[in-house]
Amino acid sequence: MCGITGYLGDRQAKAVLFEGLRRLEYRGYDSAGICVISPEGEMGCVRVSGNLDALAGALEGAELPGTTGIGHTRWATHGPPTVENAHPHLDCDGNIAVVHNGIIENFVKLKHSLQSRGHRFKSQTDTETIAHLIEENYHGDLAEALRLSLGELAGAYGIVAVHRDNPDVIVAARRDSPLVLGIGDGEYFIASAVPAYLTRTRRFIFLEDGELLVVNRSGYSISGPDGREVSHRPVEVDWDIDAAEKGGYDDFMLKEIFEQPRAVADTLADKFDSSGEIEVEELCLEPEAARELRRIVVVACGTSYHAGLLAKYLFERWAALPVEIEIASEFRYRNLVVTGDDLVVAVSQSGETMDTLAGVREAKRRGASVIAVVNVVGSQMTREADGVIYTHAGPEVGVAATKTFTAQMAAMYLLAMHLGRLRGGVSDEKYRMIVGELQVLPPKIEEVLEGRDAVIACAEKYQHCRDFLFLGRSVGYPVAMEGALKLKEISYLHAEGYPAGEMKHGPIALLDKDVPVVAIAPRNSVYDKMISNIEEVKARGAPVVAVATRGDPEIEEICDDVLWVPETMEMLYPVLTVVPLQLFAYYVAKLRGCNVDQPRNLAKTVTVE
Ligand code: AGP
Repeated sequence: MCGITGYLGDRQAKAVLFEGLRRLEYRGYDSAGICVISPEGEMGCVRVSGNLDALAGALEGAELPGTTGIGHTRWATHGPPTVENAHPHLDCDGNIAVVHNGIIENFVKLKHSLQSRGHRFKSQTDTETIAHLIEENYHGDLAEALRLSLGELAGAYGIVAVHRDNPDVIVAARRDSPLVLGIGDGEYFIASAVPAYLTRTRRFIFLEDGELLVVNRSGYSISGPDGREVSHRPVEVDWDIDAAEKGGYDDFMLKEIFEQPRAVADTLADKFDSSGEIEVEELCLEPEAARELRRIVVVACGTSYHAGLLAKYLFERWAALPVEIEIASEFRYRNLVVTGDDLVVAVSQSGETMDTLAGVREAKRRGASVIAVVNVVGSQMTREADGVIYTHAGPEVGVAATKTFTAQMAAMYLLAMHLGRLRGGVSDEKYRMIVGELQVLPPKIEEVLEGRDAVIACAEKYQHCRDFLFLGRSVGYPVAMEGALKLKEISYLHAEGYPAGEMKHGPIALLDKDVPVVAIAPRNSVYDKMISNIEEVKARGAPVVAVATRGDPEIEEICDDVLWVPETMEMLYPVLTVVPLQLFAYYVAKLRGCNVDQPRNLAKTVTVE
C-alpha cells in the first residue's frame, strides 16, 4: 500500500507533489521520489531510500521546474527499500516516468521478455516493467500506450505515468488499487487516497476498476475497459483529514480489519508460478533440502506466535514434519538442540522484534536454516534469515495486529503446502482443492465482515464483564489464543485463550454467569467435542458466544449468541473465525472508551528484550 501523487496545474509541481506525499506517509515510507517535467521537456527526478524527511532533504537543493509531475512514497513489496527501487521508475531512455501501487503478479515473466528485447532494467521492482511496457507501446499517444500495456499486466495496480514529450498530460489507470482525481480550479490532483489533497479541494472522482484517466490542460477524460468514455459526477468529500487517513473508518484498527480481504489476496497473489504451483522467489529452500528436513522449529511473539501455533498443525498434517514451537523470549533459555537438519521459521510482522531476532541468531549459531515470514520488506529479520516469505498486508498502523495476522496465516498455508508438495505429502488433487479454497477466502472474509452488527450487539451485551475465556480445539486453539490477546490488549479486560479440552483441568472453576466463554466451534472434525465443552460451560451458568458455520441449527439452540462464518475447509477456518473476534475486541474496547489504535503500555514493535 503506497502513496501516489500526480499534479497538473499552474503551480510548481514539486511542492504540490511533496505536500500530497506527506499526507500519505501512513501508507508507506521506506523510500520515495518525485519526477517533474519542465516546460522544455526535461524530466527532473529525485528519489531517496528512506522516509519523506529524506526526500525533503534531497528536494531542498533540487531544481525541478515544471507544473506537471508525479510522486510516490513506497511500502516495499518487491525489492528492498533502496534508491534504485524507489519510484518513479523510468524506461530505458528516461522519457517515461511511472509510479505504481499494487502487485504485478506476472512481472518476472514480463521482465524477462522485455529484457530479451533489449530493455535495460535498473531495479528489482515489479513497477519498472510497466515503464518499459509503455515504452514499447508508445508511438506518440501516452494514453494509448498505457492502455495497450495494461492488457499485459496480471495483478493489482494503481498506475500514474508521464512522458517528457507531453509535459501537459498525465495518464492513470487502476485495478484493485485505489486512485482518485481531485478537481481544483484549473488544476488537477491525482492520488492513491483522498487525504493527499483534501486541503486543496473537496471535489474528487473515484476511479473504478479498469478505468483509464487522461488529464491535460483543457480538462480530463475517463474511459472504461472497452475504451469508451465514461463520466463520473465529482463527489464532495466532507471528511476531515484524520477521518480521510482512516479511509472514513473511526480508527486505523477498524480500517485494517476491513482491509483483510485485500491483505490475504495480495499475500497469495505473487506466490504461484504460471502453472499454479507455489513459487516463493526469496524462499531460498532447495527441494532436496526440504526433503531432508528432520524438524521445524517455530519462533515468534504475540500474535505472530499464534500464527506459528496454527502453522504447527499445518506442517504436521501437510508436510509430515515434527514441529517444535517456542515463544521467542523463551527459545534461547531452552537447551533446544537445533541442528542443520532443522528448519527454523521465524514469524514477525515488523521483522524487528528483538526477542524473535535473538531466536533467529541463536538458531543460525547452531547451524539451522532460517526462514522468516515478515510483512516489512528489508527489515532486519529479512536480512539475517536465509529465506523470506513476505506477507503483503501493507503498513499496519494499529498497534493490535489484525490484517497482518490473517496475512501471516495465508503465508503459512503456502509454506506448509509447498513443503508438503516437495515431500510428497500433498497430492495434486488435495493441492488443487486447498489452493482453490484459499483463493476464495478473501470474499468469505468480506462475508464475515458483513456480519459486523451481530458482533456489535455481542460487544454491547458483554462490555461490562471483567473476565473472558476463549476456547478452541485443533486449529481453533490458536484462534482462541488470538481472540483473547486482542480483547485484553485493547480493552484491558482479562481474557484467556485455552484448548477447550483443557478447561476441565482447572479453568472451569472460573466460570459463572459473569464470565462469558467464546467458543470457536465451526463444523469440523472436533465439532462434537466442542459442543460437549459448550454444554459443560452452560451447566456452570456461564454465557456462551459461539463462532460457528453459517446455518448450523444445533449450536444456535445451545448458545447465547452466535457469530457466523461461511463454510470452508477445516484447516482454513482460522482465517475466518478470527475476524469476529477482532471485531468483538474492537467494539468492546470502543464501548469502554479505550484508545484502540494506541493501547496503553503497548508499542507496535518491541525492539527491546
Ligand atoms: C499483537 O496484536 C501485538 N501487536 C504483539 O503481540 C505483536 O504481535 C508482537 O509484538 C510481535 O510483533 P511482530 O509480529 O512484529 O514480531
